[in-house]
Amino acid sequence: MIIVTAILLNYYILVQIPPWYHLRGLSLNSELLAKYEYYSSLVHHVDDTINVIRGLTDANMRDLDFIQHTLIPRLGLNNEILEEQPPELSDYFGTGLHIWQYPSQLARYLQWLTNHAKDITSYCEIGCRWGGMFILIKEWVQRAGAKLEYATAIDPIEETPFLSRYKLLSEVPIEYIQGFSTEPRVEEIFRSRKPSFVFIDGDHSMKGVVHDHLLARDFATIIVHHDVTSSACPDTTNFWSHVKQVESDFNSFEFCDQYESVPMSYLGIGVLERRSKDVPLNTFIFSPEINESLKQRDPESVARRLARKIKSLIR
Ligand SMILES: C[S@@+](CC[C@H](N)C(=O)[O-])C[C@H]1O[C@@H](n2cnc3c(N)ncnc32)[C@H](O)[C@@H]1O
Repeated sequence: MIIVTAILLNYYILVQIPPWYHLRGLSLNSELLAKYEYYSSLVHHVDDTINVIRGLTDANMRDLDFIQHTLIPRLGLNNEILEEQPPELSDYFGTGLHIWQYPSQLARYLQWLTNHAKDITSYCEIGCRWGGMFILIKEWVQRAGAKLEYATAIDPIEETPFLSRYKLLSEVPIEYIQGFSTEPRVEEIFRSRKPSFVFIDGDHSMKGVVHDHLLARDFATIIVHHDVTSSACPDTTNFWSHVKQVESDFNSFEFCDQYESVPMSYLGIGVLERRSKDVPLNTFIFSPEINESLKQRDPESVARRLARKIKSLIR
């Protein structure tokens, strides 16, 4: 019980509390500053990652064993909330690009992207944190044939050293929006740019994930949700269990492999891919009640309705 409480508290402090809150406390402020200094000393890993991914063969991009056991550890894993991480990977925590994923899940997701990337024209990550996953995925889909026009990363924290370095090296423009996905300017950007591929990993509350899903679904042909099978993230997990059933214009795919050495279930990548580009966007396929809320773009009311529906589903 004590361990579970500690894990949830740790998660809440690091992920759920908006970073501007951290800046209000002196100790947390200096902790964040220390992180920026730390990541500044690691920017050469951005150059390294780009060289590695651009140098992959077509066979590498489909080789699950290579991606999981050689490539991802080589690119480096994050070292936050280590209770959720398999101890057997400890040599790679706090290295390279600090990717916050399970190699078992990420490898299958990357392999899937290899076969589904060619029509992607733009990438947006909501909640990009240090930027490692953003850089990896954007480079990966380009290497897999996507003709990207631009990419957008959104997070309320100040632009990180990885992202600043990547802006200089990317072949297409990178826009960093320092802010919350709920800000009106983000909706304006989505309406004008119409990102075709959106990765949602920002606010993990029900209200937050519903908002971000609604933001993405009018435009994106691929919507990816994170933490879809996580004991630490009940709202995103519940939302995914529901949304994959009701979004019938989309095929769903899950990459949720767990590690036996970790006592509970964590992370999880859920992909929705629009079945056909011919289906007009803005086609609402939720129940008439929810459709009405969607049309009114009232995320709070949709969140409440979805929460009720989800509760009835899991009862
Ligand atoms: C789990 S981290 C993201 C990790 C990152 N996607 C990766 O794979 O490395 C969640 C991030 O979401 C950000 N965040 C929280 N609420 C947000 C919101 N409403 N809009 C955008 N980002 C948000 C937090 O600042 C935090 O950096």
